[in-house]
Amino acid sequence: MKKYLMAGNWKMHKTFKETTEYFEIFLKGLAEFNFSDREIMIAPPFTVLAHTRKLTEESFIKLGAQNACWEEKGAFTGEISPVMLKELGVTYVILGHSERRHIFGETNELIGKRVGGVYRYGLIPILCVGETLEERKSGKTLEVVKTQLIEGLKELKEVKGNDLVIAYEPVWAIGTGVNATPEQAEEVHAFIRKKLEEIYNKEISEKIRILYGGSVKPENIADLMRQPNIDGVLVGGASLDPEKFIKICTIQIEKIC
Ligand code: 13P
Repeated sequence: MKKYLMAGNWKMHKTFKETTEYFEIFLKGLAEFNFSDREIMIAPPFTVLAHTRKLTEESFIKLGAQNACWEEKGAFTGEISPVMLKELGVTYVILGHSERRHIFGETNELIGKRVGGVYRYGLIPILCVGETLEERKSGKTLEVVKTQLIEGLKELKEVKGNDLVIAYEPVWAIGTGVNATPEQAEEVHAFIRKKLEEIYNKEISEKIRILYGGSVKPENIADLMRQPNIDGVLVGGASLDPEKFIKICTIQIEKIC
């Protein structure tokens, strides 16, 4: 059964001490909840990955990383290898996030290499795609997303479906408080599903989880999750507050169809 994925991306936030304090509240808040239909993932900074694993090892929380190299080892100053991440208990790796693309200049080609490498070493890539406001205003959303998908998945010729995640994160909705409406998100998610069907096949495309990210909060999560092609969320700001993220992770999910 395909499980929803409620994922938190902490970005460059939280020290060792803050991480400890966070999980004291977060784990208590989730203790009574039945997670049979969903997975929870948190991607903290690299510096607290091992600490997070330790704090959550008795729980069902999955660990994510915020980037990774495509090689196992070598002269790649500042990079982290997928093998090193695996050793720490990491399951998911966020790749191609808009901040990597727009602040650090990561190209579709580089992101495709990262996705390929991470997958080869047995981690699950979360490939992020999404258009800027300018691109949306000039009607280029689907074209941009299509290129990001095709280039990002270039090295993944065959997948099972549950071993790949796509996150649609419109750049104009990230950290702005303005989320895409459920209908706007659904339009792009349905498009992504169709493209995945063309790249792989229908059965596999239905197994691949497509997350929405961009100003997700307790107030809008239920409406977003009602959409047929939204299989989870990738949450930035609201995942930093354990109380808010508990609300997001435990929302009752009712699909429109
Ligand atoms: P916000 O939830 O803060 O808008 O960030 C979204 C995001 O970039 C998650 O990867």
